[in-house]
Amino acid sequence: MSRPIPAIPMPLGWSDVLAACLMGPGAAQAFEEACREYHGAVKAFAISSGRAAIWVALQALKRVRPERTRVLLPAYTCPTVGRAVMAAGLSGLCVDVSLDDFNLDVDQTAAAIDDTTLAVIAPHMFGTPADVVRLREICQTSGAPLIEDAAQASGARFDGRLVGTFGEMAVLSLGRSKSLRGCRGGVLLVNDPDLVGVVAEEVSHLPSGGWLSASEVCRQLAICTLSAPRMWQMAKQLPWLHVGAEDQEFDAKPEQLSAWKAGLGSLALKRLEAYNAHRARLGRSMDQELSGALRAHSQAKASPRESVYARLALRLDCSRDERDAVEQALQAEGIDARAFYSRAIYQYNWWTPAPHQGPCPNAERLVATNLALPVYWGMDEPEAEAVARALLNALLAGGRRAGSASTSGESETEADMMHGGRSCARRGAANDQLARTDDKGQRASAATDNSD
Ligand SMILES: Cc1ncc(COP(=O)(O)O)c(C=O)c1O
Repeated sequence: MSRPIPAIPMPLGWSDVLAACLMGPGAAQAFEEACREYHGAVKAFAISSGRAAIWVALQALKRVRPERTRVLLPAYTCPTVGRAVMAAGLSGLCVDVSLDDFNLDVDQTAAAIDDTTLAVIAPHMFGTPADVVRLREICQTSGAPLIEDAAQASGARFDGRLVGTFGEMAVLSLGRSKSLRGCRGGVLLVNDPDLVGVVAEEVSHLPSGGWLSASEVCRQLAICTLSAPRMWQMAKQLPWLHVGAEDQEFDAKPEQLSAWKAGLGSLALKRLEAYNAHRARLGRSMDQELSGALRAHSQAKASPRESVYARLALRLDCSRDERDAVEQALQAEGIDARAFYSRAIYQYNWWTPAPHQGPCPNAERLVATNLALPVYWGMDEPEAEAVARALLNALLAGGRRAGSASTSGESETEADMMHGGRSCARRGAANDQLARTDDKGQRASAATDNSD
């Protein structure tokens, strides 16, 4: 690649941070109202993180249904979801996921739900919606609220309707790598009017996040600078940035979201649709480039799912070692490809398994073979295609040949063989485009360095 490709879905610059600081202490309320309105929710609460928002939702439900103690969640998801369940003092039952969309398997959820189920948490992984319509039906039949986890999928739609609007409650995240990029934060949307009071009560017990903290603002300014593609390579070496730290601890103290972070959230929300649309175009180009590849299966995003491509999630037909080698090869090329996650939820040592927890083979298979490609906001379509092609080359090389030249004639031929015979005309056009990318990529990089 002509420049590194970080997994950053939305730009955030110094001017945004400063503008958020100047919004004043009322920014938290304004952000809550903007989130509420965008989702058509009854109420939105801005909280210190997505995981804290899950915790608050569970705490509220515990008060409403104290006799129910079990939470269903996918065995394959961000470990912070499992940590929030544990922190709420509940028993979690991991349900297997679908190998098509990498989300909760609907039939397995139906089989696992019963009258001890307090809630079902349904994350929309990597920006692609779970089948929320069927999950909602299942939840309604057994009287267990559905908590949609849209941390990775703000702005995604299922059947034309925004995710986060199907469940009784929903969670958003303002993490650095999320489609609604901010500086750490979360939102709890409440769609069921009967739950607003009890959630408001829980939130009122949380400490206030205040207006702004100088040290956090400085940290965020540093992150903005380090998010430029060429700086990102260095940023990954800085332990305090926790780049790629997948199993982060639960917040010791959930609190209300501080006003300046909420201000950043408001700025991100205004840009959400535009960047989601841009990344969806990039993601579709990558998907198209990979279509027909025998060993790389993309997360299903066909209608009625409208993914926001927080990342392009794939399942590779290879061993875990080979997948790890492919990941390293792409990283060596500056492409921030990542294997998510290192374990199924029930395999983490902080997890207390529910009685009768069985193995979840699909989750374990995804753990071993998943690879998520970055869908960087600053890419153009030829660059996105080059990322996909780099993956095909790394797969062909069995991951051993790090730094394979994705734009060289030799690699082109190999990648095309992977596709089982792509038309020469398309190949020629792709070569032309890639040649232009080198030039355009340099210029785009300069622009990025200034703006992010
Ligand atoms: C699916 C999912 N749920 C919840 C979270 C928690 O969000 P946060 O990092 O804002 O606590 C994350 C991200 O870490 C996530 O990926």
